[in-house]
This record gives sequence, structure tokens and C-alpha cells, in this order.
Amino acid sequence: MTTSEQLYERARRLMPWGTQTNAKRPDERLAGLMPFFIERADGCRIQDVEGRWYLDYRAALGPIILGYRHPAVEAAVRAQMDKGILFSMASPLEVEVAEVLTSLVPGLEQVRFMKTGNDANSAAVRLARAFTGRDHLVTCSYHGYSDWFACGEGDGPTWYTREGNGVPIALDALVTRIDYGDTAAAEALFARRGHEIAAMLMVPADWCGVADASFVHRMRALTSAHGVLLIFDEILTGFRLALGGGREYFGVTPDLSTYAKALANGYPLSAFGGRRDVMQKLYDVLITTSYAGETLSLAAAKATLEILRDEPVIEHIWSMGARLQQGFDAAAQRLGLAARATGLPPAVQFHFSDDAEINEAAHHVFFRELYRRGIFAARPFLLSYAHQQADIDETIGAMEEALAIVGEEIGALQTGH
Ligand SMILES: Cc1ncc(COP(=O)(O)O)c(C=O)c1O
Repeated sequence: MTTSEQLYERARRLMPWGTQTNAKRPDERLAGLMPFFIERADGCRIQDVEGRWYLDYRAALGPIILGYRHPAVEAAVRAQMDKGILFSMASPLEVEVAEVLTSLVPGLEQVRFMKTGNDANSAAVRLARAFTGRDHLVTCSYHGYSDWFACGEGDGPTWYTREGNGVPIALDALVTRIDYGDTAAAEALFARRGHEIAAMLMVPADWCGVADASFVHRMRALTSAHGVLLIFDEILTGFRLALGGGREYFGVTPDLSTYAKALANGYPLSAFGGRRDVMQKLYDVLITTSYAGETLSLAAAKATLEILRDEPVIEHIWSMGARLQQGFDAAAQRLGLAARATGLPPAVQFHFSDDAEINEAAHHVFFRELYRRGIFAARPFLLSYAHQQADIDETIGAMEEALAIVGEEIGALQTGH
């Protein structure tokens, strides 16, 4: 048994899942190949408990935009640690981070800080309901684990069970889920119930895989026409799709938006904000938590945002992602496989087959072979400022070998079949 497997045994004895985060649950089919526990990380590489290093494209599920342990972020955190982590009143850093954040995101007039993406989305929904005096909520994608995002009419994410999930059935009547890009469903819902809807909470791009500008613009028009607040969940798109996230990328200003992940390069901080008149309602709505002003994360956010503002981080992740996509496509072509890279360069996806079962099987073999070759990845591949051309080229080499094995094991992928 490897150290990783031994740890997993101990973990499962003490903790359901053996971990805290759904996307960090080990894939037992990949035992011995997929590292179940990570000991340390640096730049774009992570080291498992066996001491093996991997080139990482998981970015700790999105937060690592500058690379692990970016020196300027680490220095800012260390300097703040000498002053203290949490005080009995606010720290000046709250003001300083709010100033940088509002200067970078178009139309973001006021903000408040929280800890997780789920917190920020839950707070934005409470605020929108208070501001509009309406109860109904429209959601679009995964927004966190809280009750409002784990119920409703319409299908949720496939890995999210509704039945017996602990959320009162009565809440289903207050939430409708719309699939990203399903303009017809949204139009029908707004025509029927527009006057009851407080807010539509949506991702501007679907896990960065699909960016449907006409859907985003239409949702802005529909929500405005019905007095509904539009909230962008920018937890993953913020500072990755563009410096100003979906707001900047699509040129659409929602009433509120939420941030986490890349905001502080891995330190736990989230934010929600938007229109000043809406945010002023927070004087009547109690959104409060002891740790939201924790200063190490605020110091990390300030340093991260300044680097995002002053250095070509966004251009870099787009160009590295595009190089990865081109490399994958060229390798697939050389091998005669009908596979292609999809998604947007900052969050690359791959498509092997229109047949869902074959597509899944191919992904499994592909990732298995990448782990074997020291590449740690899942869907989507997330790029960071630390990935250099040589890292991408190393990955493309491993991808070509992995693809060859995918082709051997899954014959239906050969072109001409
Ligand atoms: C789009 C989106 N919204 C919200 C969340 C929830 O954020 P957190 O896990 O920090 O609560 C996630 C997390 O993956 C996300 O991707």
C-alpha cells in the first residue's frame, strides 16, 4: 500500500468522503496513479505524499491564478502575519482591497467580503430578495452547497441529488433552475412569473467551457424588463475570463456579482457587490460573519489583484491555454483521432465523441495516462501565470502519448470508423 492509500484508509475511518471537498474525492479506479493527498506545491507543480511531483492543471479547483506560492503574495501574507490575523475592529486592508477591486471590475460600485463562494452567492440572493421584496430565485449552474442552490424546479448538476438531500421540499416552489444557454426556457419562465422573481443568479460562462454572448445579453434584457436583479456568479470566471470577469468579457453589467477563487490566489476570501443603491439595503439585511475581515486573505487579495492589474496575467493564461489546445488538436490529428480541444483557453476542455458513454470512457483513459506521466488534471484544465511554454510543451508530449493509448483502447475514436 502506498502512503497515499494508507492515508485514505485513515481518512475514511474519520471523515465521510475522506476529504472536505467534493471535487477532491479520490477516484478509487485510479488508485496508485492519481495522487490522493498533496503535500506541497510550487509554481505550477504539486508534490504528493510519495514525493512525486506533478505538473498541475487543477489550480486547487480555480483559486491558483498566479501559481502556487507566488512570491509577492507570500511576502504580503508574511508581512501581515507580523501584525496579526484578526482584530476587534476592521483592518484598513478591507478598505484597500475594496478600492482595488472596485477599480478593476466595471460597474462594481460597492462590495462586501465573505469567505467562500457559497457565502457570497447566499448573501447576494438574500440581498436581492430584500431589495425587490420578491421571493422567487432563478439559478443557472452550480453556485455552492447551500439550500437555495440544492433545490428547485428543473434539473440540477448531474452529481447533485435532490431526493433526501436535507433541503425542505417546500423550497422547490421558490427556485427555478435554467440551463446555461437555454434562452427559450428563460423566456417562457419570465413571461409566466417575471413579476415574482427577485433575482437570476447565473454564471456568465459555463465553467468557462461555453461562453454564449447572446444568452448573457438576453438575460440582461429579460431581467431588466421584469424588475429582476441579475447576479453574475463570477466565482470561477472572475479574473480568469478577463480582468473584469464576465462583466468585461461580455460588456454586460449585472446588478450584483460574486467573486472568490482567483480573488486571493488560494487564500480564503470571497466578495459580493454591485449597484450602490442595492448594496445600501445591507443596512437593513443582516449579513455578518466573524472571519470575513481576516487579514491574511485580504493581504493576499490585495497583492493578487495588484499583480493581475499590473502584469499580463490574463493574456498569459489565454495564450498558454490556446497553445495547449492547438497542441492537443495537432496530436489528435497526427494519431488519426477524432478528438478536439474545446472550451475557452483559460479553462480548456476536450471532446472525444458525441456518444456520451464513449466520451466518458475516453476521458477516463486520457486522465489515467496523464497521471501516469506526471500531469495532474481534470475537467477543465485551468491555466495559471506560472505555466510557461516549456510546461505546456511537456504536457502536449504527455498528451500525445496518452492519446495514442486512448486510441488503442477505444477503437471507435479512430477517424474512418
Ligand atoms: C461557479 C461557482 N459558484 C460557486 C461555487 C462555490 O464556491 P465555494 O466552493 O468557495 O463555496 C463554485 C465552486 O466550485 C463555483 O465554481
